[in-house]
Amino acid sequence: MTGFATQQLHAGSPTAHVTPRALPIYLTAGFVLDDFDSAVNHFSTGDGYSYTRVANPTAEAVEQRVAVLEGGAEALLVGSGQAALAVTMLGLLRSGEHLISASSIYEGSRGFFVENLTRLGVETDFVDEANEPAAWERLIRPTTRALFAESITNPKNEVLDISAIAAVAHKHGIPLIVDSTLATPFLVRPLEHGADIVIHSASKFFAGHGAVLGGVIVDNDTERIAYFRDSVALRFGPTPSPLNAFLINQGLETLSLRVERQSENALGIARWLEQQPEVQSVDYPGLESNPFYALAQHYMPNGQGSVFSFTLGGGVDAARSFINALDVFTHMTHLGDVRSLVLHLATTSHNLRTDEQLEKAGIWPGTLRLSIGIEYLPDLIDDLDRGLSAIRRGSAAAG
Ligand SMILES: Cc1ncc(COP(=O)(O)O)c(C=O)c1O
Repeated sequence: MTGFATQQLHAGSPTAHVTPRALPIYLTAGFVLDDFDSAVNHFSTGDGYSYTRVANPTAEAVEQRVAVLEGGAEALLVGSGQAALAVTMLGLLRSGEHLISASSIYEGSRGFFVENLTRLGVETDFVDEANEPAAWERLIRPTTRALFAESITNPKNEVLDISAIAAVAHKHGIPLIVDSTLATPFLVRPLEHGADIVIHSASKFFAGHGAVLGGVIVDNDTERIAYFRDSVALRFGPTPSPLNAFLINQGLETLSLRVERQSENALGIARWLEQQPEVQSVDYPGLESNPFYALAQHYMPNGQGSVFSFTLGGGVDAARSFINALDVFTHMTHLGDVRSLVLHLATTSHNLRTDEQLEKAGIWPGTLRLSIGIEYLPDLIDDLDRGLSAIRRGSAAAG
């Protein structure tokens, strides 16, 4: 090599064969095909690596870890939670077929069903009483190919009776897909209760620090996940960056510590909020007063999660004063972060819903969603108290 242009590309190629303790980040579009026959072998058997959209060792390490944590046979890592939902549904449904979903779900999932799947000829029916097996049963058609629900719903923190709904699915030979983003496998492992596929937004608790996006699909059926991987994700291309895979892996290493602390903090805050005169209701299933308390104790005895909503009696004006007065809580549309977050639902994530739809979803003008972080609990309560004091000052000034 004598030319500068060649040297800048080829001089100093790494040669060390070492085993790093931290997960190596294979930040590369593709991999060297050793010799002619190894390329022939890779393309005929799939062994080894060729191109990151097909397989990447950093992403594979995350897939293996999440599969173990969820108690599933295999996992597929993709670029976001929405991508995990899209790959799953595009892998299960074709034009003319039918999906049934719980109505209380993340807005982005609902939008995907209502707008995108409809354009592809897949119809979705929604179930309001998600824990009533008969309500699902009534909607099942010969063309129904999947049931979908969240283990803990975003934003109202309702708890799914997984085994009851899985029983309906299995009676009809249909898979139950559970989005378990808000619960994480530290709190509940839906496959152990009969769910067939679990999906996650890894952008939330898995990554944990609010820096990257990711999504995971976990399945006990290795043939189905092979189809999702080789025929859906490979073609549609929601490939995660290896750097993001590394950060998700790093997050997973402290998942239990964070979720345990977040759940403890959330319970402390929910109990405190319940006592405040400005607060009309608190939707946290760790509270004895909550209608989902018994189910939460059954499915999630180690903690009931950190995302929940509560409603201020003073409506939008109270919500505005409250949010603007907060100092420790971050005002943003995200959840599962180490930091505590707050969002006013009716004017942000749910602003396209009609008043009637909002009412049906239990989202009132004063409803706020909290995602509780790992901060020192008294600091969080002081901050929320600052918000309530601002409401009181606002009312006094108006009065
Ligand atoms: C329950 C749930 N599922 C899926 C998603 C989508 O995940 P992502 O933002 O990683 O695409 C979210 C995002 O907020 C969510 O809350």
